[in-house]
Amino acid sequence: MTVANWPVAELHVHIEGTLETELLVVLARRNDVALPSYDPDALRELYRFTDLQSFLDIYYANLAVLRTEADFYDLGMAYLTRASAAGVRRAEIFFDPQTHLANGIPLDVVFGGLTRALADARATLGISADLILCFLRHLGGAAALQTLDAAVPFLDQFIGVGLDSAEVGFPPSLFTEVFARAKALGLHRVAHAGEEGGPDYVHEALDLLGVERVDHGIRAIEDPGLVEILRERQVPLTVCPLSNVCLRATPTLAEHALPAMLAAGLLVTINSDDPAYFGGYIDDNLSALQREFGLDNQQLATLARNSFRASFLPEAEKRRHIADVDEHLEGLLRLTSGA
Ligand code: HPA
Ligand code: ZN
Repeated sequence: MTVANWPVAELHVHIEGTLETELLVVLARRNDVALPSYDPDALRELYRFTDLQSFLDIYYANLAVLRTEADFYDLGMAYLTRASAAGVRRAEIFFDPQTHLANGIPLDVVFGGLTRALADARATLGISADLILCFLRHLGGAAALQTLDAAVPFLDQFIGVGLDSAEVGFPPSLFTEVFARAKALGLHRVAHAGEEGGPDYVHEALDLLGVERVDHGIRAIEDPGLVEILRERQVPLTVCPLSNVCLRATPTLAEHALPAMLAAGLLVTINSDDPAYFGGYIDDNLSALQREFGLDNQQLATLARNSFRASFLPEAEKRRHIADVDEHLEGLLRLTSGA
């Protein structure tokens, strides 16, 4: 059975990580940027990662092809079109402005293209989407503060801040000041923690940054006290199973922490992270989990409801989407009972 039609929210996807090799080649030709190959399949063959850094090296290098507002628009539209086909009704999308600034691309070009894609996708596909500005942890806290200051004129074009890039050696404690400033500006706060870093990074993200969601968070399961805090407060964890396998945060999907996290009563959501690099979109992640763990329709419905509960949508919209999940589940149950 396909899982493509579950209505879901995607809360952990980097727009730069949705750059498929086909579009990469188009943009490289458009902007006269050199690539190691112009064959999309050959480029994809190079995606063999051993850890987070081995992925980030290729991911950042590829972003040199993004030069104009039209490039960012095409990137955004391609993701939203594919996500909509996967059942995504709401997307809260990360972007990495510091990478583009370092490539000489001003913020108004990045915001202009992405914001126009979000508006057009809402109008033509009925998908709701917003942007979350991520700070690159390897560039440190002072650079993050500078980036947030530079983004203040665009405050109406993003809903929150996040923290991504190389985790180990760059703990959340380096970013306390910039997250406090983001809170004062009325922005939502999330952070990658517990992907490669240990449970201590998740504690810091909660206690020092005041995050409302933890991105990945799979290593939280190693710390029973932390699991209890996450369960008690129902802090959402945006888990990305295919990403975790590709970057060897888990040896195999069979050994993934997801079943233990669900059994512990954690508010887990399923997401694609960087789908162009890790073998699939949100529907592919759900299908892989269903195959590996034999998830039934009730469990898939729980994951779909969780995704809306964990979103930054207004309560009334969350309820409307959750009602759609319930209706989808009832339809499937009627089908399987032959009624
Ligand atoms: N982890 C950290 N930083 C990232 C990732 C990720 O999976 N994807 C893009 N930036
Ligand atoms: Zn991520």
